[in-house]
Amino acid sequence: MKVIIKEDYAAMGKEAAKYFAEVIRNKPNAVLGLATGSTPISTYKELIRLHEEEGLDFSQVTTFNLDEYLGLTGDHKQSYRYFMDTNLFNRLNIKKENTNVLSGVADNPEAECREFEEKIKAAGGIDIQLLGIGGNGHIAFNEPGSSENSRTRVVDLTKETIEDNSRFFEKVEDVPTQALSMGMGTILEAKKIVIIANKESKAKGVAVSIEGPVITDVPASILQKHSDVIWVIDKSAASLLKNSY
Ligand code: F6R
Repeated sequence: MKVIIKEDYAAMGKEAAKYFAEVIRNKPNAVLGLATGSTPISTYKELIRLHEEEGLDFSQVTTFNLDEYLGLTGDHKQSYRYFMDTNLFNRLNIKKENTNVLSGVADNPEAECREFEEKIKAAGGIDIQLLGIGGNGHIAFNEPGSSENSRTRVVDLTKETIEDNSRFFEKVEDVPTQALSMGMGTILEAKKIVIIANKESKAKGVAVSIEGPVITDVPASILQKHSDVIWVIDKSAASLLKNSY
């Protein structure tokens, strides 16, 4: 496990994007795993810059997103499909049909999850996965207690996650209580993982995930078992780490 501490949020994003650009340059038809939320915005800004200014080519790239709220259509402003289209895909030369975001309104959400897993397999697996970390240590919507063998499935969101994410909605009652989420086992199969965090509110989760024991109560700690994980964090998120990196 590598830990890279950057001065601020923008530098964190530039550093994280570098790993994605490297994978795409080496393998133009790379398969990327992507995340939503506040944390990846600076990473996506940098990927857009690399595309516009340095010709980083996404024409053969395939993507899979970590999660989607159950019950939200792709054109809902808080859906993760909408987030990805507006914050990344619409600004790249990626083919929309190669961008996979779970549908929050599938007739059969369980079947939707199974098909998603099959699509990842058919694409040859995820070459590089971007992750954020929740205030409670979750990755994707794998909340504390999630099994490390879990696959893409319908999950219940914890009260803490619903409250954390209510900042994007008009009121807390509008936040869906369930989501479709890639599983821990699915994430651990990615060949390379880049996990990003900024802000002091993430410092505790970051410290216990990197320096604490591997426990299912802190899903991100399970990443210690993966052979190619890079934490890219800003100084505030690194503030509770005891070791120097
Ligand atoms: C998003 C996701 C979540 C977020 C996490 C942090 O696709 O899977 O695990 O990465 O909740 O969210 P932010 O970045 O908004 O602090």
